[in-house]
Amino acid sequence: LFAGEWKFVTAAPTVDVLPPMQGVEIALVGRSNVGKSSLVNALTGRTALARTSVTPGRTQELIFFRCVPEMMLVDMPGYGFAKAPKDKVDAWVATIRAYLRGRVNLARVFVLIDARHGIKPVDAEILDLLDKAAVSYAIVLTKSDQVKRTDLEAVIADTKDKIRRRPAAFPEVFPTSSHGGKGLAELRAAIARIIDE
Ligand code: GTP
Ligand code: MG
Repeated sequence: LFAGEWKFVTAAPTVDVLPPMQGVEIALVGRSNVGKSSLVNALTGRTALARTSVTPGRTQELIFFRCVPEMMLVDMPGYGFAKAPKDKVDAWVATIRAYLRGRVNLARVFVLIDARHGIKPVDAEILDLLDKAAVSYAIVLTKSDQVKRTDLEAVIADTKDKIRRRPAAFPEVFPTSSHGGKGLAELRAAIARIIDE
């Protein structure tokens, strides 16, 4: 699956212009700068498929990537980015919410959480939305290269504890690093299983 050719499909600024639904869709959501676009590149083994930046607010549209016809990977704008103009942030959040609630072929959402910080209130809001909309999701911890092993184990345990009672959450938590590649094989395998379901 990930050995195949990945292609950029389209960038959708609003849910009115989403591409046609084709096969299974998987979306990456999370705070600005958490590493969504970097994870797209790391998973697909491409250095510049998705645009990344040290500055938060890089991705401003829903970006669709397609592999073999049966799979779409969606990179999304980040939430919780205080420095962007408020009307812009409101528009992104509305688009993210509308997409997550209304996309019928959305098979799984990966919610990216910075391994240094764990789940924050702004993340919990997105988890609430996914639970209410009954969209199944799993947590990916990003930038795990930035934390000590013992701290990583603590944040994994704390994260598992926080999602235990959430109805749409998968219990498994994926620690990853897009710099160095830790945990990517496990995440690719999990995505391959979703496609096979
Ligand atoms: P927005 O599009 O602004 O919401 O951000 P994003 O979530 O797409 O983040 P992006 O992938 O652009 O990465 C943000 C910054 O984090 C960049 O400077 C990346 O190099 C860095 N980064 C991403 N993944 C990792 C990682 O695994 N380890 C480390 N150390 N840095 C990372
Ligand atoms: Mg991005």
